Amino acid sequence: MSPTTIDRDGLLALASKLALAAGNMARDGRAQRGIAKADTKSSATDVVTEFDKASEALIVDGILAARPHDAVIGEEGTDKAGTSGIDWLIDPIDGTTNFLYDLPGWNVSIAAASAQGTEVGVVYVPATNELFTAIAGGGAYLNGRPIRCSDTDDVALALIATGFSYQIERRRSQARRVAAMLPQVRDLRRFGAAAADLCYVAAGRVDAYFEEWLAPWDLAAGGLIAREAGCHLGSLDGGPPRPDSVLAANSLIHSALQALIRQIDDQIDNDHLQ
Ligand code: IPD
Ligand code: CA
Ligand code: CA
Repeated sequence: MSPTTIDRDGLLALASKLALAAGNMARDGRAQRGIAKADTKSSATDVVTEFDKASEALIVDGILAARPHDAVIGEEGTDKAGTSGIDWLIDPIDGTTNFLYDLPGWNVSIAAASAQGTEVGVVYVPATNELFTAIAGGGAYLNGRPIRCSDTDDVALALIATGFSYQIERRRSQARRVAAMLPQVRDLRRFGAAAADLCYVAAGRVDAYFEEWLAPWDLAAGGLIAREAGCHLGSLDGGPPRPDSVLAANSLIHSALQALIRQIDDQIDNDHLQ
């Protein structure tokens, strides 16, 4: 079901309030008590802490207290069906490895979507006190000020962020690709949090970001923020962005960067066959 009228301002206010509360709870709790419990998930390096779970609980409780008929999906296991036509996607701590090592960049990512797509997105980076927000059709903001993607028009001069999977075989192929790319661009960055990477493209702090094998909660909020900041979003193979393949860049370099990645991948395939 699709709601007839969507209170986007209300969704954004709720998402912002909960992202700030959850992010500050995790930041302050970590600083005061440290991390007592860290388990692994999909691989030995894919970690979940008690703060990931507490952050998700705080956000889910807050959403359902205000909007009991919405659907809510969260990375740490929340999967609640709804009847309102609004679906929430939550990454309670995106960049858990950064969080574990006390590095900046980890964030709380919250999106609300309707049948038309993502309606609002919020990414809160507690270490830098930065709240990135967007409403579909309403532009993108950092702490209330409008942001825009960069205007770099040459891939060779582009600063490009990327990320790596937790799966070893996938990392091997990602490593081959970035090794070939590194001499052909200004430089590469691996900040360690997909939602923040997308916001950094939105703010013009990097010129592009690409990654494969993300989950929907990695892409939803940051993807809207990047698009609303004027970035072009697609997949590495040319279609619309998908969690398993996303390339976000300013529109001046998007197609050239996509072509470079395709050329690198073809070369790797050829070398492999010989
Ligand atoms: C991860 C981070 C990382 C990206 C991985 C994600 P998590 O999310 O966003 O930067 O490279 O693909 O899974 O596990 O820290 O929420
Ligand atoms: Ca994530
Ligand atoms: Ca996470």
